[in-house]
Amino acid sequence: MHFLFPVSLLLIVTLTACVSPEPQTRGADIYSKHCTSCHGQTALGDGPRSADLGVQPANLTLLSKRNGGTFPIEEVMAQIHGYSGRHQFGAMPEFGQDLAGPMVDWVAKSGEVIPTPKGLIDLAAYLEGIQK
Ligand code: HEC
Repeated sequence: MHFLFPVSLLLIVTLTACVSPEPQTRGADIYSKHCTSCHGQTALGDGPRSADLGVQPANLTLLSKRNGGTFPIEEVMAQIHGYSGRHQFGAMPEFGQDLAGPMVDWVAKSGEVIPTPKGLIDLAAYLEGIQK
């Protein structure tokens, strides 16, 4: 009986790895649910609500280009999550609550380990993948 335990555990781990989609795919789902109304299907900043905001939603395909060729992942995640506290002044809502869920340790450039909602990391992976 004992030897069955590691075997079944391995099976579960393998199955989980097979059925869970890639981060970018999960991020794309989150994007289409929460972000297209303002930033648009193709993230150019032309969603149906963009005209009513008074502030143009950012073109999210140019984040790297505008940051000297590096994807500004920390700023992007902060903007989306809302812990920059800017949402009360800006036109974009914060999504910290919507993305609440499993937390994973994310290692910042500084080496600091920051517990971060998995959905936020997936969303950042999606955005990084659509940079021009
Ligand atoms: C209600 C409309 C609205 C929704 C919904 C929205 N945004 Fe925004 N977003 C904006 C506006 C307007 C700006 C630019 C002004 C500002 O920064 O407040 C912006 C800015 C940003 C920026 C900063 C870009 C830069 O130039 O630094 C990022 C990143 C971003 N949005 C990502 C997202 C993501 C990802 C989602 C979905 C989870 C989302 N936004 C949902 C309106 C929205």
